[in-house]
Amino acid sequence: MKLRRLFGQRKAPIRSLWFFMLMAAMGWICISVTYFIYTVPGTANSYLYRFILMKTALFSSVRSAGADIVRIVRNSDSLDDSYKTDIGKAAETTTFLPQNFTFSPNETCPEKFKEMTGPFYVNMTEIPLDDIYANFSRIIDMGGRWRPKDCIPPFKVAFLIPFRKRHHHLPILLRHLLPMLMKQHLDFTIFLVEQSGEYPFNRAMLFNVGFTEAMKRDKFDCFIFHDIDHIPENDRTYYGCVDMPRHYATQLDIHMYHLEYEDFFGGVSGVGTSQFRKVNGFSNQFWGWGGEDDDFYTRIKQGGYNVSRPPDAYGRYQSITKNHLQEAQFLGRFSLLKHSAERNFIDGLNSLHYKTPIITLTRFYTNITVDLRPIKDLTSATEQTLK
Ligand code: BGC
Repeated sequence: MKLRRLFGQRKAPIRSLWFFMLMAAMGWICISVTYFIYTVPGTANSYLYRFILMKTALFSSVRSAGADIVRIVRNSDSLDDSYKTDIGKAAETTTFLPQNFTFSPNETCPEKFKEMTGPFYVNMTEIPLDDIYANFSRIIDMGGRWRPKDCIPPFKVAFLIPFRKRHHHLPILLRHLLPMLMKQHLDFTIFLVEQSGEYPFNRAMLFNVGFTEAMKRDKFDCFIFHDIDHIPENDRTYYGCVDMPRHYATQLDIHMYHLEYEDFFGGVSGVGTSQFRKVNGFSNQFWGWGGEDDDFYTRIKQGGYNVSRPPDAYGRYQSITKNHLQEAQFLGRFSLLKHSAERNFIDGLNSLHYKTPIITLTRFYTNITVDLRPIKDLTSATEQTLK
């Protein structure tokens, strides 16, 4: 009887202890499963990632709808509104060149030309590269260089396009980019930096290789890092070497034409040559999708620079979604990003190692094919470079 009473008295605390342990175990299992899904590549991971993107897009559209309502209520008539309704139909009619402005073969090219009429129609149809060549009456030099003859371009711009198995996307980009750059009277050269080998795509390291190889060929003043699937919508997005470091693709259609986050520096960006050297280029350690642009943003800030951005209407880009396989996410990016500031001095241009690339000149671009491999010993690589 005594025992039963004793047992009866203990039953309640024991039950709650069991309950507590069960809850803790279930909580632990939930956290582990979520962490597993978040970090291990696979179907669940890509669904979770898509969900995060959808959530961002949803917030963006709510924000945009809110902004539109405020504008309607205030009855404001901003440039942005007229731009949105015009897209793909009519060009902006304002004169872009200052009145009575002239230029000649002996004078420096200005930044604005009347041919830069604003938003243009983006045609996502896939066509062979040869077809677009037929559409250009002006001649591009072998290797993808062009410069105007009717004025003196103030700088040389190199376009670096990181590339792997996206042959069907290239003509779409060039079809829009080339005429736009010609209208802007830029002295430009296009480099396709192609990754061979079996390692995951390393966008950032390709930029480092592209920069190094391009500078061996010519003295470029600035570099534009241009994703192949980002198509500009407005030819007034000036790609000259001004206001750099600059983030161009601020309003992407897949992000509901909103800047994804304040420190975003992905898609299309540009830096001056000395700025790129000063920040030690990109990191070489981001294998797979994501993070390298965030790391680069930290470098830019650390280098003492501010990022400039074009007006919203000029920063609009459309993303090619057809035949687009998402790269495997780079799961190590979160831990690397935690230490960007410390790592930047030893990981970048000064630790860059790569096998001799194959360089070929084609009608539209200089192709740099390189087999990338991880750089094993950062410290000794840095020491060798500094010697
Ligand atoms: C990634 C960036 C990427 C951005 C765009 C971020 O989470 O770290 O690399 O450019 O998302 O979606």
